[in-house]
Amino acid sequence: MTTRSLTTFDARTDDVLAMLDHKGEYKHLRTIEGPMGPIVRLRGDDGSAREVLCFCSNNYLGLANDPRVVEAGIEGLREFGAGTASVRFICGTFSCHERIERTIAEFMGTESSYTFVSCWTANEAIYPTFAEPGDILISDELNHACIIDGIRLATTMKKGVKKTVFRHADYAHLREKLEQAAGDDDVTGQIWVVTDGVFSMEGDIADLPAMRVLCDEFGAMLIVDDSHGHGVMGRTGRGTHEHFGMIGQNDIGQVDFFTGTLGKGLGGGAGGFVAGTSRGIELLIQRGRPTLFSNALPATIACSANKAIEIVMDEPQLVTRLKNNVETARDKIKNAGFDVLDSPTAILPIIIGETAEAIAMSKRLLELGVFVIGFGYPVVPEGQARLRIQMSAAHTDEHIDALVDALKKL
Ligand SMILES: Cc1ncc(COP(=O)(O)O)c(C=O)c1O
Repeated sequence: MTTRSLTTFDARTDDVLAMLDHKGEYKHLRTIEGPMGPIVRLRGDDGSAREVLCFCSNNYLGLANDPRVVEAGIEGLREFGAGTASVRFICGTFSCHERIERTIAEFMGTESSYTFVSCWTANEAIYPTFAEPGDILISDELNHACIIDGIRLATTMKKGVKKTVFRHADYAHLREKLEQAAGDDDVTGQIWVVTDGVFSMEGDIADLPAMRVLCDEFGAMLIVDDSHGHGVMGRTGRGTHEHFGMIGQNDIGQVDFFTGTLGKGLGGGAGGFVAGTSRGIELLIQRGRPTLFSNALPATIACSANKAIEIVMDEPQLVTRLKNNVETARDKIKNAGFDVLDSPTAILPIIIGETAEAIAMSKRLLELGVFVIGFGYPVVPEGQARLRIQMSAAHTDEHIDALVDALKKL
């Protein structure tokens, strides 16, 4: 058998992979042999699996393997089958989609909502669909990659859509950007301000009331991606807007549109959504390219995520439990001598400094039976490598003590 010679792609890909390995940035996927939970069965390098404490998932409310959520998914499979075999506007809209979209709108306090196969897709849909030539999109510099790409797509697809970036959570800088937009002859349409609710690497939150005031002053609309905030923030887990008392569509002082994921606190499966005004959602249905050209959310996910959101609405004590866990863990980690960033979210970043050290610490923690990821440059700024601890309502006091004991051994 003759082997073909390396193509240009093959050769340059080998170079990239070798470079990543050399720089210590190569990501080795770790396999879990069982459900997501506070304890997972993680496959080791020798191929055998062992139980470790998981402090790195987005399973904020512990619903990923909740028997009610799992059962709802199985019922969904039985009732609607494995696939929709269609995009929504042809024959892919099932009653389970209508139901979850009503549930999301009720949960978020908006007029309407629409689901996508992921929040990434929701962000790819909203910006190119909503923005028109003459509009400008103003974005926080630490916004999630899918917001950045969604905005890039909008500016490439529609010549005349502008974009600009303000320094992270620097609202004086946002004001400057708004003033520039207001004085820009090319900006004849809508000004959009876009932010994450909870920022996943810092664990900090956007000051939504301050942003709303600025948006109102300049006639701008506010879009918030709260993927790490839904199920976590606010007394009942609605999100960062609830944390600030900004519930209620069309009332003055609210968020105009949300994007969010169903793959974290709200069941952990997959899927994403846009929630907001009925007219905005209708525009997405009519014009959104992922809506028109990509399959619907699988029925099993629509059913399990719907159940997860119902549980969050019925059992706000889950959110309270998560908050208590966050406070307990933060206090104990601080008392153990670590530098944890303060925030009201379920993300506790411990700043270590050097990337190699953060990665070495995460490896050592795993040897001690605790699964925590170390993030370094280029995911976070140089010199600010960190261990990112993510809390869940499913963690017990014993789990937290075991985490802190392992940290102390470092
Ligand atoms: C802020 C934010 N938006 C969107 C996403 C993407 O969500 P999904 O996994 O549903 O595509 C993430 C996931 O990491 C996120 O953190």
